[in-house]
Amino acid sequence: MKIENVKAVITGAGSGLGEGTARYLKNKGAELLLIDLNADGLKKVADDINCKYVVGDVSNEEEMKNAINDFNEINCLVNCAGIAVGAKVVSSRGMHDLGLFEKVLKVNLIGSFNMLRLCADKMQANEPDKEGEKGVVINTASVAAYDGQVGQAAYSASKGGIVGMTLPIARELASNGIRVNTIAPGLFATAMLAGMSDEVQKSLIATTVFPKRLGTPLEYAMLVESIVTNVLLNGETIRLDGSVRLAPR
Ligand SMILES: NC(=O)c1ccc[n+]([C@@H]2O[C@H](COP(=O)([O-])OP(=O)(O)OC[C@H]3O[C@@H](n4cnc5c(N)ncnc54)[C@H](O)[C@@H]3O)[C@@H](O)[C@H]2O)c1
Repeated sequence: MKIENVKAVITGAGSGLGEGTARYLKNKGAELLLIDLNADGLKKVADDINCKYVVGDVSNEEEMKNAINDFNEINCLVNCAGIAVGAKVVSSRGMHDLGLFEKVLKVNLIGSFNMLRLCADKMQANEPDKEGEKGVVINTASVAAYDGQVGQAAYSASKGGIVGMTLPIARELASNGIRVNTIAPGLFATAMLAGMSDEVQKSLIATTVFPKRLGTPLEYAMLVESIVTNVLLNGETIRLDGSVRLAPR
């Protein structure tokens, strides 16, 4: 798919990787609908780059159905909305809260799937291009899907679910001309990571092989562009991580 023909829904667009992707794709001529739960962040980005936006929760069926219905001819979805929490299964502070586990699964995994099904339903009505392509979906997992640390039970489970659904959905949607891929980022300089102490950030960077620094939203957006424009990429999860392998803690 040519980047200037992209009509993309980007979730989590009010901050970090979603924001970086929105700015990058808009600059390349794409038409965008930006979605985020954080009204202030989202409005600032949308006003800045002059895009449509909807404030809402990706895991909410009705809200997202309404958001998508107002946007014509979607041919790309970039799922970036997500939350990270740290909690041990059992500790001196008690057991892992079950509601917290459910919430992480709901936002990260069910939210991604909700957006995927709503957008795929619209994409299948598109006119195919000369490759037969009607749309492309890009999910965001994490390297924590593979090497999650102590305290990441919920987060890793949610991201592992995204990795797990990538191939079966790509196989299913192939007959609709829709590709599905997932990016598994390592450590990126966004609000999500800024929540960790300098000490934790330094120790995480130390485990990165090369380059020894955090990734940038621009580098994430460049991979989104590669996936969009390279029709042979399908059913794959791509680690974008400077070869980091997270230590147990
Ligand atoms: N930053 C990293 O190092 C890193 C590493 C691996 C994976 N990721 C993943 O990348 C994605 C983007 O994260 P980021 O680093 O840009 O974080 P971020 O916190 O900067 O951005 C996440 C955005 O998602 C939005 N959001 C949260 N819950 C939502 C909901 N229910 N509905 C709609 N929007 C919601 C937030 O308001 C926020 O604007 C996440 O899925 C995250 O798990 C990030």
